[in-house]
Amino acid sequence: MKILVTGGAGFIGSHTVVELDKAGFEPVIIDNLYNSNLGVLDGIKQITGKDFPFYEMDCNDSEKVRELFAKEKFDGVIHFAAYKAVGESVEKPLNYYENNLISLMVLLRAMTEFNVPNFVFSSSCTVYGQPDAIPVTEQTPRKPANSPYGNTKAIGEDIIRDYIYAKPGVKAISLRYFNPIGAHESALIGELPNGVPSNLVPYITQTAAGLRKSLTVFGSDYDTPDGTCIRDFIHVVDLAKAHVKALELLESESGPDYYDVFNVGTGEGYTVLQLINTFEQVNGVKLNYSIGPRREGDVEKIYAQSDKVNNVMKWRAEKTMAEALRDAWKWQLKITAQ
Ligand code: UD1
Repeated sequence: MKILVTGGAGFIGSHTVVELDKAGFEPVIIDNLYNSNLGVLDGIKQITGKDFPFYEMDCNDSEKVRELFAKEKFDGVIHFAAYKAVGESVEKPLNYYENNLISLMVLLRAMTEFNVPNFVFSSSCTVYGQPDAIPVTEQTPRKPANSPYGNTKAIGEDIIRDYIYAKPGVKAISLRYFNPIGAHESALIGELPNGVPSNLVPYITQTAAGLRKSLTVFGSDYDTPDGTCIRDFIHVVDLAKAHVKALELLESESGPDYYDVFNVGTGEGYTVLQLINTFEQVNGVKLNYSIGPRREGDVEKIYAQSDKVNNVMKWRAEKTMAEALRDAWKWQLKITAQ
């Protein structure tokens, strides 16, 4: 089965390409390299021993997308390509709506035109906002997004749902990711944030590597055991494997209008301080950090109830937060040394 992976040179995309290959799928990568680079493809090649087809292109370009679909006969699409910086999305909302939503519609149209039946969409637990009760199930009501980025995920899900129910010959799954962290255990691929990282783990690894002076923990007065926010941190390789399972589920579902959403998390929540302590312990490094004020827009606590993905997709997270933090550190040491 030939699978188009948009954003396949990105953090989650690159790990998914590796897992697709392992499971016997044939990935074809497109990426505009806006937030990634060609070195990632070398990493993928070293891990898999294969050179997958790569096209440097933007999936907002409907003509190029149509040409690609006409040339390659895809059996499915996993759509990672999107802007993802929460803060930037507040400053440049139109860039986010335009980029994240037009590319989605271009791909869906091409799928119908070229008879490509299976679609997997990168959504986010951000669609739950601050839920009234945790853990969150897929039935937990979505809340208004607290950023344009988050809103593109909620609207993206709605676009897909409405499209699938119109019976376009496409089936789809939206995966609501919790907080992906870590890197491939080979340290050949990992996260490559542009500029100053806004996410926790890249900030931690860059601080531990001496690239940043100190980490600020955003708030210690939340209603949690140690006062810092709670998240469901999932190893990126586990998350990548969930995409393979999603494709397999789509393959085995015969209904023409199948659409469903799945939480993809570990089912366990840890505080920011617990994560920092684990990072220090497993890697034997001391992290320079201090407590600062809350970051605007942060959710106090969220973690997944993962029964649905466990039971229906037969997927569960296998790696621990400690393994993810060890792999993230190994990756940071590798890129710092380059
Ligand atoms: C955010 C988005 C999520 C998106 C993800 C990846 C929201 C609610 N969530 O997740 O949708 O997929 O980014 O871009 O918009 N922290 C610090 N110091 C730091 C950085 C982070 O203390 O320097 C804390 C944060 O306050 C938070 C936790 O670490 O409590 C995780 O933060 P982060 O990695 O940015 O992810 P989220 O905000 O959970």
